[in-house]
Amino acid sequence: MKLGFGFTEVGTITPRPQAGNPKPRLFRLTEDDGVINRMGFNNAGSEAVVTRLAASKPNIGGMVGVNIGANKDSEDFVADYVTGLQRFDGLADYFVINISSPNTPGLRDLQGRAALAALLDKLMETRAGLARSSQTPLLVKIAPDLSAEDHEAICAEALSHKIDGLIVSNTTLSRPDSLIGGNKAEAGGLSGRPLMALSTEMLARTYSFTQGAMPLVGVGGIMSGRDAYAKICAGASVVQLYSGLVFEGPALLGRIKSELTTCLAEDSFGSIAEAVGSRAN
Ligand SMILES: Cc1cc2nc3c(=O)[nH]c(=O)nc-3n(C[C@H](O)[C@H](O)[C@H](O)COP(=O)(O)O)c2cc1C
Repeated sequence: MKLGFGFTEVGTITPRPQAGNPKPRLFRLTEDDGVINRMGFNNAGSEAVVTRLAASKPNIGGMVGVNIGANKDSEDFVADYVTGLQRFDGLADYFVINISSPNTPGLRDLQGRAALAALLDKLMETRAGLARSSQTPLLVKIAPDLSAEDHEAICAEALSHKIDGLIVSNTTLSRPDSLIGGNKAEAGGLSGRPLMALSTEMLARTYSFTQGAMPLVGVGGIMSGRDAYAKICAGASVVQLYSGLVFEGPALLGRIKSELTTCLAEDSFGSIAEAVGSRAN
């Protein structure tokens, strides 16, 4: 928070600890301002994270989202998400259901309409039964590699299940022709500048499919205030970044904020809220 972020998100966290994929599993594409990762949800497991988060949260001083996933060797992915919600009851300011990591085989299949509907039924029922988090916002994080048909179906399910928002997007399995970094052929999800156009396009389409009915979180390739502004105009009420920080360092936060102020003034918007979705088509 002291870096200037308004909120933070931990995860993805799985019920049981897991080591993730063998190293190397993280690659910089320096010339492209891109990153390819195939980390594979390396994490200490939700019990350990609950203990750590409970101890540190009072000092964090802002909203903390908890991003939940499934163990790679799980026999029941849906049950893993249910466990995640239950374990973080009372600790998360919002939940993220991550069904879009490319590094856990089968996980992205949960984005199929029938599988997603069954998952959301179960999760909304689980959330309703939580002692402390029955009203905690639940967001679903989607991939940028969806077909138009799957994408529209996800938005329809998100609306009919009354989830609280969508996060657009996770990393991409695609490799734009423009890539020149020596690591471009590594397996994994691509993030950073080369993801900006694709993820922003997805965001704008998500905004039009959901008709502004739910908040969208824009993420993917934000390296400047202009990029953040493009996400907002495409429909994001909130933005997140990861790879930009790798290349630009913490000074990026101040630059984004002052550039955003300039962008809003150029277009005569009095607030971010006024700009949301202004160029979503
Ligand atoms: C090293 C690395 C690890 C990531 N791990 C996760 C993860 O565990 N769960 C998740 O939902 N997204 C994960 N992401 C994806 C980011 O949260 C984000 O959606 C993506 O990188 C696009 O944003 P960016 O271009 O600003 O990095 C990871 C990204 C990177 C670079």
